[in-house]
Amino acid sequence: MREDVNLQWRIAARPQGNVRSEDFELHECPVPQPGDGEFLLRTLYLGVRPVMRMYMQGLPAAGETPLDIGDVIHGRGVGQVVASRHADYQPGDIVQGQLGWQTWKVSRGSAAERFIKMPAGAPCVHGAGATGMNGFSAYFGLLDCGRPQAGETVLVSAAAGGVGSTVVQLARILGCRVIGIAGGAAKCRLLQQLGCAASIDYKNEAVAARIAELCPDGIDVYFDNVGGETLSAVLENLAMHARIVLCGSISEYMRDTPFGLTNYTRLRAVNGCMQGFFVYNYAERFAEAGRRLADWISSGQLQPVQSIVEGFENMPQALADLYDGSNAGIQICRVRGEPSECAPVPDNVLQP
Ligand SMILES: NC(=O)c1ccc[n+]([C@@H]2O[C@H](COP(=O)([O-])OP(=O)(O)OC[C@H]3O[C@@H](n4cnc5c(N)ncnc54)[C@H](OP(=O)(O)O)[C@@H]3O)[C@@H](O)[C@H]2O)c1
Repeated sequence: MREDVNLQWRIAARPQGNVRSEDFELHECPVPQPGDGEFLLRTLYLGVRPVMRMYMQGLPAAGETPLDIGDVIHGRGVGQVVASRHADYQPGDIVQGQLGWQTWKVSRGSAAERFIKMPAGAPCVHGAGATGMNGFSAYFGLLDCGRPQAGETVLVSAAAGGVGSTVVQLARILGCRVIGIAGGAAKCRLLQQLGCAASIDYKNEAVAARIAELCPDGIDVYFDNVGGETLSAVLENLAMHARIVLCGSISEYMRDTPFGLTNYTRLRAVNGCMQGFFVYNYAERFAEAGRRLADWISSGQLQPVQSIVEGFENMPQALADLYDGSNAGIQICRVRGEPSECAPVPDNVLQP
């Protein structure tokens, strides 16, 4: 990758269906220089998330400003400060936050960019996933909204994905019986490896029948990453006081109209509840989540599942992978190698 220019992925067209290479434009511009109160970041890793397709559609998603054709696509990741005229950021600092799909960024450290300094010596790759927004979404969604108790049955959809694979392991650590839903036999094998008592291959099995078979006493906690027909099937199989955590609804993101749930009233019969959450609403507790996730990782109880895509030029394909299911675990693009200030890429991760 050329270091003397800033490479940016910009929106060339609004995606119809899954993103295609024609929807992106690779743009070259000079490396920006920081002015007073600014600092220059070099991008190390970029997380790849389903919401990025919504950014490309021009939607006001995840609290970010809506984008026009020609804009740099929003994207969070990990960067290193290389020059600074900002009192709070020093050269060498490693931060995670809003970098955008580009290899260099000048920032004022605004509230909207939500930069968080990574702890000294932490593996920086985790800032783009396991101890970043992926891990935080799993942590707050499961613990705060799902409130699982040991012995309860927790069902997770998109369970082999970034958030899902973390939720599966957290629920197992908390002593729950965990069942994962994912597409294909290989992902279902991965779920067994992560500690699921059983798995459901939604591409090859009848989901509603399998849920009824595996959860004869009903589901206590459902962590929903997909919405649509799967959520509807879950509502038919709830235990008393069931909690449904609305994290995402990826099966609906490419539809012109939302799925249109009709059986939500099933919650009444079981005194159940369905609760949505947005990870940034927990910003004041990110440090707590970061510490606990890092502890579980270093004790070996939580093994981040990561797909590392090599090279900034592969960002568009990395995003397409999320929508056709070819990723497993946390999808991360390595833009540059690990700097000396970071711990080496840890070996206690699963690379599917
Ligand atoms: N509420 C929040 O604050 C928050 C924060 C972060 C993420 N999210 C949401 O959390 C969910 C997971 O995000 P992630 O970043 O961890 O992505 P991910 O799960 O790593 O990737 C998406 C996965 O979704 C599955 N999928 C794709 N199309 C599907 C369909 N039509 N039906 C069922 N499954 C489908 C694929 O797995 P299979 O091969 O199994 O199909 C794919 O691997 C997303 O819905 C995202 O929008 C919400």
